[in-house]
Amino acid sequence: MNILVTGGAGYIGSITCVRLIEAGFTPIIFDNFCNSKRTVIDRIERITGKRPLLIEGDIRDRTLLDQTLAQHKIDAVIHFAGLKAVGESVAKPLAYYENNVGGTFTLLQALEAAGVRTLIFSSSATVYGDPASVPILEDFPTGATNPYGRTKLMTEEVLSDIVHANPAWSVTLLRYFNPVGAHPSGLMGEDPQGIPNNLMPLIAQVAVGRREKLTVFGNDYPTPDGTGMRDYIHVMDLADGHIAALRHAIGKPGTHIFNLGTGRGQSVLGMLTAFERACGRPLAHTIAARRPGDVAACWADTAKAERELGWTAKLSLEDMCADTWRWQSSNPNGYAD
Ligand code: NAD
Ligand code: UFG
Repeated sequence: MNILVTGGAGYIGSITCVRLIEAGFTPIIFDNFCNSKRTVIDRIERITGKRPLLIEGDIRDRTLLDQTLAQHKIDAVIHFAGLKAVGESVAKPLAYYENNVGGTFTLLQALEAAGVRTLIFSSSATVYGDPASVPILEDFPTGATNPYGRTKLMTEEVLSDIVHANPAWSVTLLRYFNPVGAHPSGLMGEDPQGIPNNLMPLIAQVAVGRREKLTVFGNDYPTPDGTGMRDYIHVMDLADGHIAALRHAIGKPGTHIFNLGTGRGQSVLGMLTAFERACGRPLAHTIAARRPGDVAACWADTAKAERELGWTAKLSLEDMCADTWRWQSSNPNGYAD
């Protein structure tokens, strides 16, 4: 089966392409490289022995999408392409709505015209806003606290409307919790451009000497050690969640919503300690005020994914840290240009 993978050169998309190839699917990557490097394609080939087809382009380019869909018989789409930095979305809301929401409209129009109606969408636990309790179930109320989150929520709503209007569509909304980790080979991982926004790449950059210390945002949360708790999930498990969702979606119309997490929360200090074990040395940190907009605790109830997809996260916190460290220490500056 041919799977069009928008954003397939990015962190989660590229590792999902490796798993797709290993599972016997044929990914076709569609990416404009606005937040990724071309060398990732070589790494996919090195790991799998197969070079995925690459179409370099923007999902807002209807002509190129139409050409792509005419040239290749696409069975399903995994739609990763999007901008993802919360702070940047506050500063540049229009760019986020245009790329994430507008880009998805263009993609959907092209898919509708081509009769491709199976789509897996990269959503986020951010659509739960500040949850009333944890663990979070898929039917919890949704809300957004920033433009990035609103692009995810708006896209989810548009996709649900499309299924409502045309029941031939199969749409799967995958709400990721906190993806971390790297391919166990150390050849592929997260390569943030500029200053990272997320905890794990920041810790990894301290470990490799690119940053002096980690700033812990708040130690006065109502959690066991006072620092924020999140559901960190290994990117390899997340990639496998997409394969399970794809197998589930094919031939099953409707809107399907799944949390992809481990079902367990880990604190900031817990992550730091685990990474110190992985890299074998203490890592400097300082405590600062809470980061505005942060929630105290956020982790998934994963029972629905386990029941309906037959999928659970298998890798441990030790795996997440060891694999991140292998990737970071052997590629201290990320992918080459
Ligand atoms: P990423 O930035 O590494 O990958 C996104 C890819 O999409 C990049 O390769 C980028 O070049 C491409 N892209 C962006 N806009 C495009 C456009 N208009 N046309 C074509 N390509 C375009 O991000 P990621 O961490 O791999 O995330 C993938 C998806 O998962 C995103 O939609 C993101 O919002 C979502 N998500 C990520 C996280 C996370 O913490 N990483 C959490 C929840 C949801
Ligand atoms: N943190 C620090 N110091 C840092 C960075 C983060 O202490 O320098 C803490 C945060 O306060 C939080 C935890 O580490 O407690 C995780 O922070 P991340 O920024 O890595 O992750 P978030 O859960 O805050 O945000 C992520 C994505 C968002 C998404 C959200 C919900 O970055 O895009 O999950 O899915 F919206």
